[in-house]
Amino acid sequence: MTEVSLFESDLLSPEVQSLLPPGYTLRALRSNDYERGFLKVLEVLTEVGNHSRQEFDEQFNYLKKHNHQYHTITITEDAKNQVVAVGTILVERKFVHKNGLVGHIEDIAVNGNQQGKKLGLRIIQALKYIGAKRGCYKVILDCSEKNVPFYQKCGFTQKEVEMAWYV
Ligand code: ACO
Repeated sequence: MTEVSLFESDLLSPEVQSLLPPGYTLRALRSNDYERGFLKVLEVLTEVGNHSRQEFDEQFNYLKKHNHQYHTITITEDAKNQVVAVGTILVERKFVHKNGLVGHIEDIAVNGNQQGKKLGLRIIQALKYIGAKRGCYKVILDCSEKNVPFYQKCGFTQKEVEMAWYV
């Protein structure tokens, strides 16, 4: 079956691609990234669950249908054909700021043995590019204290307080 991309490549920053180490490629999430270890990369964040191929496809197809809202990107190591870094920007429609758009960065993860190569920084730069291109007036995210210096290096400043309620 032909491989499908989550969204068109015009939302991918050519500058970020040019700044990646040789042999690494920036892409929209693709329908065969299940085999390229996309879910494995997310395991550095939290418990992911053992998705069957069908369960991955269900989620991919939902995101594809709503790809004006969900933009999940990957960096792949070409020689190994493996996903090594991932991230998402979710575009929220608001009434405030005259039907404004806010970008929410979610689920940033870099493979344990690939950290420290600026792949995390490149993922964030690529997501900021998508947010700006989609017309968001701001891009926000939640993170742990430990990751504050990383996001500061990515151009974010600390604001407000995160609250959570678990069902
Ligand atoms: N504390 C201080 N500085 C840091 C940290 C940190 N925890 N992590 C990275 N940096 C610095 C680097 O030293 C580098 O600085 P430099 O430009 O002066 O050399 C700069 O930030 C960019 O670092 P990268 O090499 O791009 O970082 P990396 O590729 O390792 O990605 C990330 C960082 C995403 C935090 C990665 O370590 C990771 O996947 N961690 C586990 C999962 C996680 O915590 N994800 C973020 C969750 S928050 C969210 O999803 C919104």
